[in-house]
Amino acid sequence: MPVNPVIAGIGSPPELHDALLAAQYLADDDLSTAAYLALALGKPLLLEGLPGVGKTEAAKALASVLGRRLIRLQCYEGIDAGAALYEWNYPRQMLAIRQAGDDYVNIYKDEFLIARPMLDALQAGGNALLLIDEIDRSDHEFEAFLLEFLSDFQISIPERGTVRADQRPVVVLTSNRTRELHEALRRRCVYHWIEYPDAQREASIVMMRASSVARDTADKVVAAVSRLRAEPLAKPPGVAETVEWAEAATLLNIQGADWPDAFKRAIGVALKDQEDLSFIASRIDQIITGAAA
Ligand SMILES: Nc1ncnc2c1ncn2[C@@H]1O[C@H](COP(=O)(O)OP(=O)(O)O)[C@@H](O)[C@H]1O
Ligand SMILES: [Mg+2]
Repeated sequence: MPVNPVIAGIGSPPELHDALLAAQYLADDDLSTAAYLALALGKPLLLEGLPGVGKTEAAKALASVLGRRLIRLQCYEGIDAGAALYEWNYPRQMLAIRQAGDDYVNIYKDEFLIARPMLDALQAGGNALLLIDEIDRSDHEFEAFLLEFLSDFQISIPERGTVRADQRPVVVLTSNRTRELHEALRRRCVYHWIEYPDAQREASIVMMRASSVARDTADKVVAAVSRLRAEPLAKPPGVAETVEWAEAATLLNIQGADWPDAFKRAIGVALKDQEDLSFIASRIDQIITGAAA
């Protein structure tokens, strides 16, 4: 099977793992394999997982590894094709018409066209990685439109004709799984569910991202975070919160606070929801130290 030129230089999942690591992203074997296959097969990569497990960051690291420009389409409730594809700059068109007086003016020139992420990615083609972030926030209609885009990699601008990608952009989609995505969309992609990292990997991520933190502190914070994630919280801490909690506790420790007090005082970095904080307030010491009640 011919190798997709997209991954020239990356010969296997372990090689992709190492390249991602050089871009400050520590992937596990399953993620390295899924991402490698998506690239090798020329398919979109669909990453699902809870908030904060590293989906968006994985896409950024991939873009960096491939030397591609990251073009991000952040989805939200009510997003429509206009916001995703292109819009005409209506005020500027009006102004041009007024300034032209009786002369003819072409108001469908490039200068009046505002490329939104999907058109931008088509035009950038082989130089782009298109990140379609948090698709679960959009509605079913937008998802159907995405599916069409991912089948053809072309869009039609009625006033201009069809825009096609010379080479396809690499596409990564993410979902926090607040709702189920359409079967047809999932079928088109290589799928991977990202879990929270295991303790060892999360401690390594902390050490990599926060150079001031001692290994012992990283291990302790990772254990505490894992106990927090086992609680029925509204907003369980993601990996970024683990890193920041370790940094914050380290800072307080340098200023004289001891463990576990430094962790306790910095809890607002890990938990950012008043109800979650009051829910665990009476057991905070146990959660931090792991000591039995
Ligand atoms: N595997 C990883 N390697 C390095 N850093 C990670 C990893 N996973 C998560 N992170 C850190 O956690 C932060 C949050 O991840 P993010 O990609 O924003 O989560 P998500 O998009 O899944 O909500 C990132 O900015 C990064 O600092
Ligand atoms: Mg994200």
